[in-house]
Amino acid sequence: MSTLPGDAAAQHARKVLARDLMRTPAHISAKYFYDQRGCELFEAITRLPEYYPTRTEKALLQARGADIARSVGPCTSLIELGAGNCEKVRLLLPALQPRCFVGVDVAGDFVQAAVERLAQDFPGLEVCAVEADITAPVTLPARIGEQGRLVFYPGSSIGNFDPDQSMTLLRQMRALAGEGGGLLIGIDLPKERLVLEAAYNDAAGVTAEFNRNALAHVNQCLGSDFDPAQWEHVAFFNAAHSRIEMHLQAREAVQLRWPGGARAFAQGERIHTENSYKYPLPLFLQMLTQAGFKACKAWTDEKDWFAVIHAKT
Ligand code: AVI
Repeated sequence: MSTLPGDAAAQHARKVLARDLMRTPAHISAKYFYDQRGCELFEAITRLPEYYPTRTEKALLQARGADIARSVGPCTSLIELGAGNCEKVRLLLPALQPRCFVGVDVAGDFVQAAVERLAQDFPGLEVCAVEADITAPVTLPARIGEQGRLVFYPGSSIGNFDPDQSMTLLRQMRALAGEGGGLLIGIDLPKERLVLEAAYNDAAGVTAEFNRNALAHVNQCLGSDFDPAQWEHVAFFNAAHSRIEMHLQAREAVQLRWPGGARAFAQGERIHTENSYKYPLPLFLQMLTQAGFKACKAWTDEKDWFAVIHAKT
């Protein structure tokens, strides 16, 4: 999490945005997807028929909850990173029976409201919300003991980071879990191109709107004059990198301006907005070992589309 005060942090973010827009190809960090509208659109994506990851992971957590609980053993604190609305953890709480749930998210108010709803629905469960950017080491309140921690990072969100960043994140999760703790993580696996590409090019156009919405958010943060209608959603599987790439492609020549900067885009020029890596299970297990985790146990669905992995520290 940035330690800069509010204004300085916003100024730094604008500087990074402007620098990334001036690159060739231009780039917008995937974090600009997630303003209020973007979060709503992402929730809609998770319910799309083509977007298999959410329902596949939920089904796995539901069907394998007891096995997961056996592998985890006694769990004192369950710590979800990027917890959002805390919906997925509801599937695990009955089996894991932790004393305490900690929801960590950049959207502090949102996650606070979500943990309060959890406390109502699971009487006896202590809850705690922590506002933090999980790309930096997360500090928990002192009352969260160091024993029996299980870090939960579902949704294949690790796939939105480059492999080097993912290794850094996994090491941070290892440190957060502490000795005798563990990590429960969801990853999307490589599969047929058709299935992958349909998941990011849904017929209803929700993913396209989600992608274009990043431009409206950038306009707000940078004061730029993007017209989202001038940009076409492009998503494809890059097999060489085993990742879905999302881009926005100029439908016509675009002259973009913002306070202190400008950039011309030719018709057909692209802005890279997201990568979503699909790791083969053996490779991801190796990454966990490199990050300092010991024994790993993995559960996959019958099509081998998605994996939930428990890694012990
Ligand atoms: C949040 N993340 C795991 C999603 C993914 O599948 O990479 C974000 C997303 N982008 C387009 N659709 C969904």
